[in-house]
Amino acid sequence: MFIKVTVPATTANIGPGFDCLGIALSLYNTIEVKEIEEGIKVEVDGIIENDLEVNKENLVYKSMNRIFKEIGYTPKGIYIRQVNNIPFSRGLGSSAACIVGGLLAANELVGNPYSKDQILKMAVEIEGHPDNVAPALFGGFVVSTSRNERVSYIKSTLNENLKFLVGIPKEGLSTKTSREALPNEVVFEDAVFNTGNAALLVAAFMSGDYSKISEAISDRLHQPYRLKLMESLEKIFIEAHNENLKSIFLSGAGPTIIALDWSDNQEKEKLFAEVLQTVDKNWEMLKLTVDNKGAIVE
Ligand code: HSE
Repeated sequence: MFIKVTVPATTANIGPGFDCLGIALSLYNTIEVKEIEEGIKVEVDGIIENDLEVNKENLVYKSMNRIFKEIGYTPKGIYIRQVNNIPFSRGLGSSAACIVGGLLAANELVGNPYSKDQILKMAVEIEGHPDNVAPALFGGFVVSTSRNERVSYIKSTLNENLKFLVGIPKEGLSTKTSREALPNEVVFEDAVFNTGNAALLVAAFMSGDYSKISEAISDRLHQPYRLKLMESLEKIFIEAHNENLKSIFLSGAGPTIIALDWSDNQEKEKLFAEVLQTVDKNWEMLKLTVDNKGAIVE
């Protein structure tokens, strides 16, 4: 019998909330697994990145193994079938989807010994930061922190009328490269700027007073460094601000750029699509909403 897990894409940081804010989005990968007589067999449909996906380094398989090792179970063999819709290396949580999907599938396979909080802790250990894996697991808008092996989080749901206009470039950017671009130290004033904005942004989401988002979403801790990693990124930010489209942020480690839209008309959508096309015709735009459910095991 197959175990099927559906996991949402995620966007992390949301501007000022570096490594602590994340939202699950309405774009999904599915992972089906079953125990077989021998070997490891991986099949991938949809978006394929490289042959890592079909060998032992497969992230779903590695994440499943984490549960097997923890509980001391050795399966005879494992069959994995992935259907990938979340683009790789774009800052939309494709790794988090593999990790959360693999952990949940293996947990189900061995009879569900671990709680979702325990699964989250393992997922953070694998990923290194909580802001993609937490919303992938729980859905909605998740504020999460992890330090000294302790993970704390609060999940809230968001209104589905909040639109995420997702600008995706043809070229990817690895999270590793994007994290290496960050400084070791920041100026006190910039830290204060981000603390205020992150708090204001959370309050805006929670209260539904979206009018403050355009102000709250600006960041000084990671975006200024990462926008220099790809020529079009800075140009899109400048062009969007010139057009008074200020509710934009780098999704996770980038290079995807998201514009938030809470209007009833399609003006922002048209404007953002035009900005992307003006800067670089190779960018595509997807329109997504929040996923408030998180990963589902069937
Ligand atoms: N918070 C992480 C980062 C997210 O910005 O590096 C990675 O997707």
